[in-house]
Amino acid sequence: MQEKEGYKTIKTDLLIIGAGGSGLRAAVEAVKAGIKVTIVSKSLLGKAHTVMAEGGIAASLGDVDPEDNWKVHFKDTMVEGVYISDWRLVEKLAKEAPDRVYELERMGALFDRTPEKKIMQRAFGAHTYRRLCHVGDKTGLELLRTLEDQIIHSENVTVLDEIFVTKLVKNKDKVIGAIALDMKKGEFLAINSKSTIIAGGGCGRIYEVTSNSWESTGDGIALAFDAGAEVRDMEMIQFHPTGMIWPSGVRGLLVTEGVRGEGGLLYNTKGERFMLRYSPVKKELDARDVVARAIYNEIKEGRGTEHGGVYLDISYKGKDFIMKKLPGMYTQFMDFAGVDITKEKMEVAPTTHYYMGGIKVDPDTNATNVEGLFAVGEAASGVHGANRLGGNSLADLLVFGKYVGESASLYAKEAKEYEIGEKVVMDEINRIKGFLKKDGINPYTLTEKLRNTMSENVGIIREENGLKKALSDIEEIKKDYSKVGIDGSLKFNPGLLQCMELYNMFTISELLVKGAILRKESRGAHFRSDFPKKDKNWLKNIIFRKNGDKLESYTSTYPDLPPHLAEILPEEKYE
Ligand code: FUM
Repeated sequence: MQEKEGYKTIKTDLLIIGAGGSGLRAAVEAVKAGIKVTIVSKSLLGKAHTVMAEGGIAASLGDVDPEDNWKVHFKDTMVEGVYISDWRLVEKLAKEAPDRVYELERMGALFDRTPEKKIMQRAFGAHTYRRLCHVGDKTGLELLRTLEDQIIHSENVTVLDEIFVTKLVKNKDKVIGAIALDMKKGEFLAINSKSTIIAGGGCGRIYEVTSNSWESTGDGIALAFDAGAEVRDMEMIQFHPTGMIWPSGVRGLLVTEGVRGEGGLLYNTKGERFMLRYSPVKKELDARDVVARAIYNEIKEGRGTEHGGVYLDISYKGKDFIMKKLPGMYTQFMDFAGVDITKEKMEVAPTTHYYMGGIKVDPDTNATNVEGLFAVGEAASGVHGANRLGGNSLADLLVFGKYVGESASLYAKEAKEYEIGEKVVMDEINRIKGFLKKDGINPYTLTEKLRNTMSENVGIIREENGLKKALSDIEEIKKDYSKVGIDGSLKFNPGLLQCMELYNMFTISELLVKGAILRKESRGAHFRSDFPKKDKNWLKNIIFRKNGDKLESYTSTYPDLPPHLAEILPEEKYE
């Protein structure tokens, strides 16, 4: 690290923005490639949002249901994505997830076992077979722990935590690094990198109720978009059927699908197991959009609980079973709500959970359309199309974390080194310092307004008027952004962070709403009450990009499926 006036300079071969599962899995490959890696994390190492993927990793090991194989996993994923996933990515996901799980086990992950000592797999919504390899209800945490162990001792890896990246820097058309604020020290960093991976996760925090950690404000996607990267499927955000609803401080906190996977049943206040009505075959284990809409409907039609949810009950399975399979859920409800789930029902309601939209990537390399810039995990798009199967996010970050680590390292080895110019850094420092003022508009007020309109108008059920209202609200709220500010210093200043995040939240929200207005049909997580049917003319993806200050959009389709994959899929897709 070199010190210049006002900032420090770092030189690295590969910069990874994000220390969740996808970033760490990429780092494992970079370590193998022998290059110098710098990982920057908005929060602390080991605390990334990956820990909230509780229920498991989807991989067709067939340890519990021997009939399972990659073809069924491929089909389930394509069907869940309602045929707008990039089949080239889905084929890799389905074929390679088992190898990545075994590899994780060799690295030290302690999966739950079957009586025969194979990896235990549980049922999850819309998976044909029991497919989720898990560690109780703490799978994401174990995955992170295992990957951290792999990289933390390498002298080629530097992990910097509590860093907020404010800008990607380009030389002509190529990304050459980033400018960031070290929030602990209140110091700016100019990070020169030959190759950069965005692994910064999703954006659930643009809604009022979300399972996402505070970090999930779409920063990585917005940074890439501003640098010229194309983004895709921005209208597609997933609402997980079951989040906690009270006490209000934990509203939205995930209640893992593992509860339903292990037999949890949903009831309304009339004591009716309502999923039998909405989905007589798959019941509680239908796709997330189906179950979330059913719960939404029950509540709207007056069969919801006093806190505005429905009941989820697994108590009939008995204490021993629950403590073994869902210990985290037991503690979560006991500690936060004083509810003993071995004896009582949980109260749950849908919660914003996962972004299928994100940066468009090359299916072979995870490169974006901007030279030197790669993307992976929830920040990238294409794997999950219109909706994601539970457990496929952890599979995604393992499979594509490996790919992106390989390709970004290869790129770094051949790339020329550039230095970020002092003027660029100083301009950015001055921009950020501009938020520090006494009489600025409070960023929390604007954030709340943004979340209100997103939740009110761009939720589980959407329609043209609501979407247009959201867009005009966002435009209105944005007018005050130039006056936003907070007092205090650069050091440990959550208000300053809010000012910076808010810009990214505006970017993502606007694109999400614009995509939702354009897609005049219902598909997966995108349900339009004014266009309630799927339309074969919309068997395509909406892509946005920036051209100077102008926003451009176009639609595109993937190449036709090759026969060996087409034959796996049901005919219904053109209905
Ligand atoms: O319900 C869950 O445990 C979440 C898992 C996922 O979204 O993949």
